[in-house]
Amino acid sequence: MKKILLATGGGDCPGLNAVIRAISKAARRKGGWEVWGSIEAFNGIMAEPPEIVKLNRRRVAGIHVKGGTIIKTTNKGNPCDYPVQLPDDTWTTEDRSEILIQKISDHGFDAVVNIGGDGSQKISLALFQKGLNIIGVPKTIDNDLSATDLTFGFSTAVQIATDSFDKLVTTAESHDRVMIMEVMGRDAGWIALHTAIAGGAEICLIPEIPYKVDNILKRIHKRYRKGKGFVNIVVAEGACEEHGTIVGEKAHDIGDKHIKLGGVANYLRAALEEKGCPAQIRTTILGHVQRGGTPIAFDRILATAMGIKAFEMIENGEFGKMVTYKNNQIESVELSEAVKSYKVLSKDDYLIKTARSLGISFGD
Ligand code: F6P
Repeated sequence: MKKILLATGGGDCPGLNAVIRAISKAARRKGGWEVWGSIEAFNGIMAEPPEIVKLNRRRVAGIHVKGGTIIKTTNKGNPCDYPVQLPDDTWTTEDRSEILIQKISDHGFDAVVNIGGDGSQKISLALFQKGLNIIGVPKTIDNDLSATDLTFGFSTAVQIATDSFDKLVTTAESHDRVMIMEVMGRDAGWIALHTAIAGGAEICLIPEIPYKVDNILKRIHKRYRKGKGFVNIVVAEGACEEHGTIVGEKAHDIGDKHIKLGGVANYLRAALEEKGCPAQIRTTILGHVQRGGTPIAFDRILATAMGIKAFEMIENGEFGKMVTYKNNQIESVELSEAVKSYKVLSKDDYLIKTARSLGISFGD
């Protein structure tokens, strides 16, 4: 029997379980393969005793409809930069990648599939360069991986954000209010822009286009006559005022280096109030609901197709590559190419043009 090890790393996202199920099913149908999962990214295989589970038929049946990941995840398990506590209780990090590769080999694994975002795929590349038979499958609600047109989870996040936005529109209208809804996306405005167009926002603020509070205020004034009117704003968590700084806080957890973005909606509310906004303002920070729950059909299909491709790549010995979705086809790209750059919105993206033509203001 040959053995495949799966790991899910970084923030979770709807569709992870569909990838796990697809690989497990394809392997079972082909025969001669066992599929295992490492619990909490690579921490499971590093643990003593190891925390790994066999992903047999019973474990994966029907999981494609379930959010999250049945093998858990973490953003604190980078084997190349692993947090280690010193005797004096302070923390340092060390490169444990060689130990990880040895453990994977000791357990008899022939191939590894690392399902994760940009950070996880950088780990995949480092492990491949050290000789591991590894394949990457991209995931993130942020849709910010340059090598793939779409990542699974993104469309579900947009749907959740749009459903929430629709609810805010009716209450904004009833109360003649300005509603600011903050969505995720880190340094990219994909979720915000898609939601703003789908929902019909008046204003959309994204990291790629710095905004001016005065411009937003002008747009709000235009929508109000004698105190009556309403405005719905979508703001990406990474959006930034011109010459300003992003709103967030440093990560507190050991081993997690990400700045925790969040709070730009309240920052904007305060700035608008200070400058004399003509209406009451309410803010909604959607947060992790965007990452939870059932993946929509499109994401289940995309994730499943990516899982099937990953298994096919293992069979063909195509290691050191990441599965991609390009021009409506499932393909693959070298990991070294895949991690070269982030995918952010370009100012002449057709959706930015679409939004501008609809009269959506970016505050620029
Ligand atoms: O990358 C996915 C994402 O949901 C971002 O949109 C967000 O900034 C971040 O993860 C939140 O991370 P955490 O789950 O660690 O709070």
